[in-house]
Amino acid sequence: MSLPDRFQAAVSGWLAGHSGSHREGSAALSATYRAGGSSARIDLGSYLVTRLPATFAAVNRVLAELARRRPDLAPESLLDAGSGPGTASWAASDLWPDLARITFLDNSPAFLALAAELARQGPPALAAAIALKGRIDSLTEGAAADLTIAAYALAELPVEQAAATAEGLWRASRKALVLVEPGTPQGFARLRSVRSRLLRLGAVPAAPCTHALDCPMSGSDWCHFSVRLPRSRAHMHAKAATVPFEDERFAYLVLVREGAPPEGARIIAPPQHAKPGVTLRLCTEGRLENRHVARRDGAAYKQVRKLEWGDMISPVTEEDTP
Ligand SMILES: C[S@@+](CC[C@H](N)C(=O)[O-])C[C@H]1O[C@@H](n2cnc3c(N)ncnc32)[C@H](O)[C@@H]1O
Repeated sequence: MSLPDRFQAAVSGWLAGHSGSHREGSAALSATYRAGGSSARIDLGSYLVTRLPATFAAVNRVLAELARRRPDLAPESLLDAGSGPGTASWAASDLWPDLARITFLDNSPAFLALAAELARQGPPALAAAIALKGRIDSLTEGAAADLTIAAYALAELPVEQAAATAEGLWRASRKALVLVEPGTPQGFARLRSVRSRLLRLGAVPAAPCTHALDCPMSGSDWCHFSVRLPRSRAHMHAKAATVPFEDERFAYLVLVREGAPPEGARIIAPPQHAKPGVTLRLCTEGRLENRHVARRDGAAYKQVRKLEWGDMISPVTEEDTP
């Protein structure tokens, strides 16, 4: 998954005007995020080179899943909470061309200025986006939109503030709330606490959960997914990387106001392919299970053999493994 052409052009143009290798900034940025730190003092160029492609790919994957599950969502307004360079807004406007009103909300003036500068080169809704300096953990009255997205933003708050912050974001969401976090045990733990709090307020899971029962993950398990994306030459240089791609691990939660959770089960680990068939690790109706689909079960096997980690499976004829 690469950036859309216009976004890539805007980013490349910005980087060309702010030259530097971004190698040191990138090492500092990785260390900051690994330690659970904030974006407050990071180098913007390093963010664009080393994090933006991956956060875009993850958000894009999540929004595509929302669009698949809720084809009638058609959001007209978006609150991009913790917008950074506007990553989520670019992903959303690519998917929903009717999106007309976009607000970037961030407490960093530098990120807001960057988001506005990049957005000027985007489609009309992005070019007209409002850049609002504010805190996602104390939303102002009246901050409301059809769709609210907080991508890699809760991670920058103290853990104990995540659920209360998400509650504020949920209240601001007329149709849907999308949360994307690093695919780490901590990122998942944050989303799990948000999930239980917001389900009590009547939120309906649209993805990845296929039920509104208690989350069945336990022990050292954590619900996360992965998206593969190409590395640019600048990214390879900044990260001293040797392979031309990276795998971004992310955790996410999509909550909507209407309807029911999707029917079926979510594949929550890479499918294990072997000669006799494929074994899928599934989250289904409030429990986790391994489901083996034998190659000899022609139709059922055909239905699942190309499915990937993160996809959904509808009921099939299968054998369960103990
Ligand atoms: C890791 S960046 C993610 C940016 C973007 N959403 C993305 O996915 O690429 C986190 C962003 O959240 C912003 N942020 C962190 N804490 C915030 C807070 N309490 N209120 C508003 N913005 C915040 C940071 O300034 C930064 O722009």
